[in-house]
Amino acid sequence: MSNMEKERSELLTEESEQINWTKKHLLDIDDFSKAEFDLVLKTASAMKEILSRPIKKVPALRGKTIATLFYEPSTRTRGSFELAAKNLSADVINLTPASSSIVKGESLIDTLHTLQAMGVNAVVIRHSMAGAPYLAAKHARASIINAGDGWHAHPTQALLDMYTVYEQKKRLKDLKVVILGDSRHSRVARSNILGFTGVGAKVTLCGPLTLLPPSINYKYHPYPGIEIEPDIQKALNGADVVMVLRLQKERQHSGLMPDIREYKNHYQLNRQRFALAKPDAMLMHPGPVNENVEIEPELIRCPASVIDRQVANGIAVRMALLYLVIGGKNDEI
Ligand code: CP
Repeated sequence: MSNMEKERSELLTEESEQINWTKKHLLDIDDFSKAEFDLVLKTASAMKEILSRPIKKVPALRGKTIATLFYEPSTRTRGSFELAAKNLSADVINLTPASSSIVKGESLIDTLHTLQAMGVNAVVIRHSMAGAPYLAAKHARASIINAGDGWHAHPTQALLDMYTVYEQKKRLKDLKVVILGDSRHSRVARSNILGFTGVGAKVTLCGPLTLLPPSINYKYHPYPGIEIEPDIQKALNGADVVMVLRLQKERQHSGLMPDIREYKNHYQLNRQRFALAKPDAMLMHPGPVNENVEIEPELIRCPASVIDRQVANGIAVRMALLYLVIGGKNDEI
């Protein structure tokens, strides 16, 4: 794959010399080495080149079948996995509880066995229960890809976010990445913390203390190596990347925040606050956006916003992951 050989990235360290992909499943990125992050980003770059062609299709996964099994709603993740699989010439089956025998009480394990009997090579799972993809991986011959499990992890979102930053900044190390909002309940936040710190970026979490990772004192928290800063002005000062999280409206009734108006007063990203970040700062949001809640509507598609690019890059990154997980290791793309 000649594009993968192009210019060595600043992400690389000595550890990151050429490696082969060895993971059967993609459940989390908590065990990724820098070299594995690097391989995903480089493979995604090659996939992005394919997406720039008039015909965005290559035969890399011809003859393979991929199932998407989404127990929770999704627009971006499910749609981009389907497009990614089709761009690589795989066949795709899409299952949701409402449109499958899950609605009749079929268990996750039974559904997996059924998909395997049909010969699927990979199952992309989203589930409201943290750990569901791990259970699936224990029972599956097929590769399992975690498309979001409860509050736990959303590894492919973090990888596409990292790719989007890397594509623009040409590096990840030492960048100040501010994650703004409800990081306590966010699988996106958890995976991005692991991803960005894993390649040497400096992550700051900002939000009301009740929506930050649980701790007695915010200086002591479960994520070593990151900063927790409840003061939005201090947090945004000098940021290279501002990643706004969706405010999960159910939190409003759980006693963890007073009300939306109060949240907006203190934590909505607006133009004045975003101006505290560096002049070339990137504005990100994993989507879906609650307009005029966590972010001022004018900012959503402002010049600094890469929200739509995150979605587009999601296809390239998911192509890369499908290719790495179930493609022939030495196949040409
Ligand atoms: N960011 C994200 O996971 O979006 P969807 O819920 O639309 O897949």
